[in-house]
Amino acid sequence: MIERELLGTRIVVGGGALSGVGEHLVASATAHVRTIAIITDDNVAGLPLARVVVDSLRRAAPAARLLRRQIPAGESQKTRGQWSALSDWLLSEECGRDTTVVALGGGVVGDLAGFVAATFMRGVPVVQIPTTLVAMVDAAVGGKTGVDTPAGKNLIGAFHRPAVVMVDPSVLETLPGEHVRAGLAEVLKHGAIADVTYFQSAAQQGAALASRPHATSGAWWRSAEGRDLVLRSIEIKSAIVASDERESGPRESLNFGHTVAHALEVESNFTMLHGHAVAIGMIAEAALGERIGHSVQGLAETLRRAIDRVGLPNRLLASFDVDRLIEAMRMDKKARAGEIRFAIPRELGVMTPIDGRWSIAAPPSAIRDALQSITPIELPSAANR
Ligand SMILES: NC(=O)c1ccc[n+]([C@@H]2O[C@H](COP(=O)([O-])OP(=O)(O)OC[C@H]3O[C@@H](n4cnc5c(N)ncnc54)[C@H](O)[C@@H]3O)[C@@H](O)[C@H]2O)c1
Ligand SMILES: [Zn+2]
Repeated sequence: MIERELLGTRIVVGGGALSGVGEHLVASATAHVRTIAIITDDNVAGLPLARVVVDSLRRAAPAARLLRRQIPAGESQKTRGQWSALSDWLLSEECGRDTTVVALGGGVVGDLAGFVAATFMRGVPVVQIPTTLVAMVDAAVGGKTGVDTPAGKNLIGAFHRPAVVMVDPSVLETLPGEHVRAGLAEVLKHGAIADVTYFQSAAQQGAALASRPHATSGAWWRSAEGRDLVLRSIEIKSAIVASDERESGPRESLNFGHTVAHALEVESNFTMLHGHAVAIGMIAEAALGERIGHSVQGLAETLRRAIDRVGLPNRLLASFDVDRLIEAMRMDKKARAGEIRFAIPRELGVMTPIDGRWSIAAPPSAIRDALQSITPIELPSAANR
């Protein structure tokens, strides 16, 4: 088992980690824990890992009251309505400040239950148990919590550091392939912004996973390589977050690919998986970086090849209207004073600030060019030729 420390949060990574969640919860508590409230979703509740977590909590905190609540799975649940339903549930159970919330699931459960914990009685501890690759390498680490609104994703939320994060990569065995690939997009992003060697090995391992049948690819997460892939991503994100918790500097570099990705998500009415949007976003932004003289030539092509081999989308569908995408970027919460900003590596694994900023503004004409450069030209069909 490997332990890391991030801004007071204990992060435990390794096979079998979940059977130790009870001990870690108790050890991290600064006061008596009377109630433990597990929040999970319908899919995760039925997995064997849920039983492991409950058993561990019962064993380590036999006197605590254990409450459980499951919500339907999916992004559509990450709402103020679900936040208030969960908060009302805690109130109806007469929970007080001596409650610890356990977020058991993917990024949706993590963000939502984290936000419930951040606001309940002005903040109670949360233990994050991420069960998807996205949640392990990204959502559970860094303390951002929140919900979506009709105006956009994650627009209401709070920073709330988890007390403990327990990560067992072997639970990814049951995760559907498209969610594994979505997580690999963030893994590749971490390599692209901070560690070229990691990028290359992650691309190779991702390609191998993509070409294997699900049964054997799932079991791979039990290997040391599987654990290390997850661990290194957590380390990269943790180091960046530790240097800039509130995103006024280097944390911006984690937004590589995300200015374009958020526009794609908005324009697809959130039907596109975030990881898929990030994959296309990284290629588009690298192409932009090359065009404005910020990034080395060839960066976009290197990314495109790796992303393609992992089985992620690597072209912009011609059905997207480029001008509408640019308009959506202008509306994004990261756009300031009408400027559209991008965090783009100089070269693979290297981010550097410009005049103290970790993102760079680009003119719409260059953005349009970059987006068009990754849109395949539609060939006329045989009948029209
Ligand atoms: N807070 C942050 O910093 C941060 C960072 C990245 C993403 N996010 C958020 O995370 C969310 C996306 O997270 P996600 O991709 O984990 O989605 P998700 O939580 O919807 O999980 C994806 C699917 O996998 C299922 N699942 C979870 N664990 C499983 C397992 N072990 N085996 C089988 N199925 C399993 C879930 O029930 C769900 O159907 C978004 O809302 C995004 O905004 C937050
Ligand atoms: Zn992301």
